[in-house]
Amino acid sequence: MMVSDIAALSALAKKHNLLLIVDNTFLTPYFQRPIELGADIVIHSGTKYLGGHNDALAGFAVVNSAELAERLGYLYKTVGACLAPWECFLIERGIKTLPVRMDRINYNAKKIAEWLRARKEVKKVYYVGFEDHAGYEISKKQSTGFGGMISVEVESKELAESILKGVKVFQYAESLGGVESLITYPMLQTHADVPKEERERRGINDRFLRLSVGIENVSDLIEDLKRVFDK
Ligand SMILES: Cc1ncc(COP(=O)(O)O)c(C=O)c1O
Repeated sequence: MMVSDIAALSALAKKHNLLLIVDNTFLTPYFQRPIELGADIVIHSGTKYLGGHNDALAGFAVVNSAELAERLGYLYKTVGACLAPWECFLIERGIKTLPVRMDRINYNAKKIAEWLRARKEVKKVYYVGFEDHAGYEISKKQSTGFGGMISVEVESKELAESILKGVKVFQYAESLGGVESLITYPMLQTHADVPKEERERRGINDRFLRLSVGIENVSDLIEDLKRVFDK
Protein backbone atom coordinates (compact mmCIF):
# COMPACT_ATOMS: atom_id res chain seq x y z
CA MET A 1 0.00 0.00 0.00
CA MET A 2 2.70 2.43 -0.99
CA VAL A 3 2.17 5.17 -3.56
CA SER A 4 4.60 5.95 -6.38
CA ASP A 5 4.81 9.42 -7.91
CA ILE A 6 4.12 8.54 -11.54
CA ALA A 7 5.09 11.93 -13.01
CA ALA A 8 8.41 11.89 -11.10
CA LEU A 9 9.12 8.31 -12.18
CA SER A 10 8.29 9.23 -15.77
CA ALA A 11 10.81 12.10 -15.68
CA LEU A 12 13.45 9.74 -14.27
CA ALA A 13 12.69 7.06 -16.88
CA LYS A 14 12.89 9.59 -19.73
CA LYS A 15 16.22 10.90 -18.44
CA HIS A 16 17.63 7.38 -18.68
CA ASN A 17 15.86 6.52 -21.92
CA LEU A 18 13.70 3.84 -20.28
CA LEU A 19 10.05 2.97 -20.69
CA LEU A 20 7.80 3.46 -17.67
CA ILE A 21 5.30 0.65 -17.13
CA VAL A 22 2.53 1.20 -14.57
CA ASP A 23 0.28 -1.49 -13.17
CA ASN A 24 -2.99 0.43 -12.73
CA THR A 25 -5.03 -2.57 -11.54
CA PHE A 26 -5.82 -1.22 -8.07
CA LEU A 27 -7.15 2.16 -9.18
CA THR A 28 -8.46 1.54 -12.72
CA PRO A 29 -8.74 4.28 -15.37
CA TYR A 30 -11.70 5.65 -13.43
CA PHE A 31 -9.45 6.87 -10.61
CA GLN A 32 -6.06 7.18 -12.29
CA ARG A 33 -4.83 7.71 -15.86
CA PRO A 34 -1.10 6.95 -15.90
CA ILE A 35 -0.49 7.75 -19.59
CA GLU A 36 -1.58 11.33 -18.93
CA LEU A 37 0.98 11.36 -16.09
CA GLY A 38 3.81 10.19 -18.38
CA ALA A 39 3.65 6.37 -18.38
CA ASP A 40 4.51 4.57 -21.64
CA ILE A 41 2.68 1.33 -20.94
CA VAL A 42 -0.19 0.71 -18.54
CA ILE A 43 -1.15 -2.81 -17.59
CA HIS A 44 -4.29 -4.01 -15.89
CA SER A 45 -5.41 -7.29 -14.50
CA GLY A 46 -8.85 -7.19 -16.13
CA THR A 47 -9.68 -10.08 -13.81
CA LYS A 48 -10.00 -7.52 -11.02
CA TYR A 49 -12.00 -4.24 -11.08
CA LEU A 50 -12.45 -3.96 -14.85
CA GLY A 51 -14.32 -7.28 -15.04
CA GLY A 52 -15.47 -6.69 -11.50
CA HIS A 53 -17.44 -9.87 -10.83
CA ASN A 54 -14.79 -12.51 -10.04
CA ASP A 55 -15.86 -14.57 -13.06
CA ALA A 56 -13.39 -13.81 -15.86
CA LEU A 57 -9.61 -13.90 -16.36
CA ALA A 58 -8.24 -11.12 -18.55
CA GLY A 59 -5.41 -8.64 -18.89
CA PHE A 60 -4.85 -5.34 -20.68
CA ALA A 61 -1.80 -3.53 -21.97
CA VAL A 62 -2.37 0.09 -23.01
CA VAL A 63 0.41 2.01 -24.78
CA ASN A 64 1.12 5.63 -25.60
CA SER A 65 2.44 5.26 -29.16
CA ALA A 66 1.67 3.55 -32.46
CA GLU A 67 5.17 2.06 -32.44
CA LEU A 68 4.68 0.31 -29.09
CA ALA A 69 1.21 -0.81 -30.18
CA GLU A 70 2.73 -2.39 -33.28
CA ARG A 71 5.42 -4.20 -31.24
CA LEU A 72 2.98 -5.49 -28.62
CA GLY A 73 0.38 -6.35 -31.26
CA TYR A 74 2.96 -8.47 -33.08
CA LEU A 75 3.77 -10.38 -29.89
CA TYR A 76 0.11 -10.80 -29.06
CA LYS A 77 -0.62 -12.30 -32.48
CA THR A 78 2.40 -14.58 -32.61
CA VAL A 79 2.28 -15.81 -29.00
CA GLY A 80 -1.48 -16.25 -29.29
CA ALA A 81 -2.39 -15.02 -25.81
CA CYS A 82 -5.74 -13.71 -27.03
CA LEU A 83 -8.94 -13.40 -25.03
CA ALA A 84 -11.75 -15.83 -25.79
CA PRO A 85 -15.06 -14.27 -26.96
CA TRP A 86 -16.83 -15.15 -23.69
CA GLU A 87 -14.18 -13.32 -21.62
CA CYS A 88 -14.46 -10.30 -23.96
CA PHE A 89 -18.20 -10.24 -23.39
CA LEU A 90 -17.88 -10.50 -19.60
CA ILE A 91 -15.22 -7.80 -19.38
CA GLU A 92 -17.10 -5.42 -21.69
CA ARG A 93 -20.24 -5.91 -19.67
CA GLY A 94 -18.34 -5.41 -16.41
CA ILE A 95 -16.77 -2.15 -17.59
CA LYS A 96 -20.23 -0.62 -18.10
CA THR A 97 -20.66 -0.40 -14.32
CA LEU A 98 -17.05 0.46 -13.46
CA PRO A 99 -17.69 4.05 -12.24
CA VAL A 100 -20.65 3.05 -10.09
CA ARG A 101 -18.76 0.14 -8.54
CA MET A 102 -15.62 2.18 -7.94
CA ASP A 103 -17.50 5.01 -6.24
CA ARG A 104 -19.21 2.55 -3.90
CA ILE A 105 -16.01 0.61 -3.24
CA ASN A 106 -14.14 3.84 -2.50
CA TYR A 107 -16.86 4.91 -0.05
CA ASN A 108 -17.05 1.52 1.66
CA ALA A 109 -13.27 1.13 1.99
CA LYS A 110 -12.87 4.49 3.72
CA LYS A 111 -15.58 3.64 6.26
CA ILE A 112 -14.06 0.21 6.95
CA ALA A 113 -10.52 1.56 7.25
CA GLU A 114 -11.71 4.16 9.76
CA TRP A 115 -13.63 1.55 11.72
CA LEU A 116 -10.61 -0.76 11.83
CA ARG A 117 -8.30 2.03 12.95
CA ALA A 118 -10.57 2.80 15.88
CA ARG A 119 -10.39 -0.77 17.24
CA LYS A 120 -7.93 -1.42 20.06
CA GLU A 121 -7.17 -4.93 18.71
CA VAL A 122 -5.80 -3.41 15.49
CA LYS A 123 -2.12 -2.48 15.47
CA LYS A 124 -1.92 -0.84 12.06
CA VAL A 125 -4.18 -0.13 9.12
CA TYR A 126 -2.56 0.38 5.72
CA TYR A 127 -4.96 2.50 3.68
CA VAL A 128 -3.92 5.19 1.21
CA GLY A 129 -6.98 7.34 1.94
CA PHE A 130 -5.79 8.26 5.45
CA GLU A 131 -4.51 11.83 5.53
CA ASP A 132 -1.47 10.70 7.51
CA HIS A 133 -0.53 7.97 4.99
CA ALA A 134 2.91 8.77 3.56
CA GLY A 135 1.53 8.63 0.00
CA TYR A 136 -1.66 10.61 0.63
CA GLU A 137 -0.53 13.89 -0.96
CA ILE A 138 0.91 12.18 -4.06
CA SER A 139 -2.26 10.15 -4.35
CA LYS A 140 -4.44 13.29 -4.17
CA LYS A 141 -2.28 14.86 -6.89
CA GLN A 142 -2.45 11.98 -9.38
CA SER A 143 -5.64 10.04 -8.59
CA THR A 144 -9.28 10.88 -7.91
CA GLY A 145 -9.94 7.98 -5.54
CA PHE A 146 -8.15 5.65 -3.14
CA GLY A 147 -9.69 2.35 -4.22
CA GLY A 148 -10.83 -0.57 -2.14
CA MET A 149 -7.66 -2.22 -0.86
CA ILE A 150 -6.87 -2.22 2.85
CA SER A 151 -4.25 -4.17 4.76
CA VAL A 152 -4.37 -4.57 8.48
CA GLU A 153 -2.17 -5.90 11.24
CA VAL A 154 -4.15 -7.18 14.21
CA GLU A 155 -2.82 -7.82 17.72
CA SER A 156 -2.44 -11.60 17.48
CA LYS A 157 -2.26 -14.57 15.15
CA GLU A 158 -5.29 -16.01 16.97
CA LEU A 159 -7.39 -12.96 16.12
CA ALA A 160 -6.24 -13.03 12.47
CA GLU A 161 -7.29 -16.67 12.24
CA SER A 162 -10.59 -16.12 13.98
CA ILE A 163 -11.41 -13.27 11.56
CA LEU A 164 -10.66 -15.52 8.58
CA LYS A 165 -12.79 -18.31 10.02
CA GLY A 166 -15.57 -16.13 11.40
CA VAL A 167 -16.49 -13.68 8.65
CA LYS A 168 -19.61 -14.42 6.66
CA VAL A 169 -20.11 -11.40 4.37
CA PHE A 170 -16.39 -11.12 3.56
CA GLN A 171 -15.23 -14.28 1.82
CA TYR A 172 -11.87 -15.87 2.57
CA ALA A 173 -10.48 -16.02 -0.95
CA GLU A 174 -7.60 -14.68 -3.00
CA SER A 175 -8.02 -12.28 -5.94
CA LEU A 176 -9.50 -8.82 -5.48
CA GLY A 177 -11.50 -6.10 -7.19
CA GLY A 178 -14.87 -7.80 -7.48
CA VAL A 179 -18.30 -6.77 -6.23
CA GLU A 180 -17.91 -9.24 -3.35
CA SER A 181 -15.62 -8.33 -0.46
CA LEU A 182 -12.73 -10.74 -0.04
CA ILE A 183 -10.23 -11.25 2.74
CA THR A 184 -6.87 -12.96 2.35
CA TYR A 185 -4.01 -14.16 4.53
CA PRO A 186 -1.01 -12.96 2.46
CA MET A 187 1.46 -15.02 4.50
CA LEU A 188 -0.20 -18.24 3.27
CA GLN A 189 -1.53 -17.02 -0.07
CA THR A 190 -0.14 -14.17 -2.21
CA HIS A 191 3.24 -14.06 -0.43
CA ALA A 192 3.69 -17.73 0.51
CA ASP A 193 6.68 -17.98 -1.83
CA VAL A 194 8.49 -14.98 -0.32
CA PRO A 195 11.21 -16.07 2.16
CA LYS A 196 10.04 -15.61 5.77
CA GLU A 197 12.71 -13.03 6.65
CA GLU A 198 11.83 -10.86 3.65
CA ARG A 199 8.12 -11.23 4.36
CA GLU A 200 8.55 -10.16 7.98
CA ARG A 201 10.67 -7.20 6.90
CA ARG A 202 7.75 -6.03 4.77
CA GLY A 203 5.31 -6.47 7.65
CA ILE A 204 3.65 -9.54 6.13
CA ASN A 205 3.46 -11.62 9.30
CA ASP A 206 0.95 -14.03 10.85
CA ARG A 207 -1.13 -11.09 12.13
CA PHE A 208 -1.47 -9.45 8.73
CA LEU A 209 -4.62 -9.58 6.57
CA ARG A 210 -5.61 -8.03 3.25
CA LEU A 211 -9.12 -6.86 2.46
CA SER A 212 -10.57 -6.18 -0.98
CA VAL A 213 -13.70 -4.20 -0.26
CA GLY A 214 -16.71 -4.80 -2.47
CA ILE A 215 -20.04 -3.07 -3.06
CA GLU A 216 -22.13 -4.61 -0.28
CA ASN A 217 -23.91 -2.40 2.21
CA VAL A 218 -21.07 -1.03 4.34
CA SER A 219 -22.92 -1.60 7.61
CA ASP A 220 -23.21 -5.32 6.77
CA LEU A 221 -19.45 -5.42 6.20
CA ILE A 222 -18.65 -3.59 9.43
CA GLU A 223 -21.13 -5.71 11.37
CA ASP A 224 -19.45 -8.82 9.95
CA LEU A 225 -16.07 -7.72 11.30
CA LYS A 226 -17.52 -6.42 14.57
CA ARG A 227 -19.17 -9.76 15.34
CA VAL A 228 -15.78 -11.53 15.09
CA PHE A 229 -13.85 -8.83 16.94
CA ASP A 230 -16.36 -8.80 19.82
CA LYS A 231 -16.45 -12.60 20.20
C1 LIG B 1 -1.87 -5.39 -9.00
C2 LIG B 1 -2.00 -6.67 -9.78
N1 LIG B 1 -1.53 -6.72 -11.04
C3 LIG B 1 -1.61 -7.87 -11.77
C4 LIG B 1 -2.15 -9.02 -11.26
C5 LIG B 1 -2.20 -10.27 -12.12
O1 LIG B 1 -3.48 -10.48 -12.56
P1 LIG B 1 -3.98 -11.76 -13.39
O2 LIG B 1 -4.02 -12.87 -12.41
O3 LIG B 1 -5.33 -11.37 -13.89
O4 LIG B 1 -2.97 -11.96 -14.46
C6 LIG B 1 -2.66 -9.00 -9.97
C7 LIG B 1 -3.30 -10.17 -9.35
O5 LIG B 1 -2.86 -11.20 -9.15
C8 LIG B 1 -2.57 -7.80 -9.21
O6 LIG B 1 -3.04 -7.75 -7.95
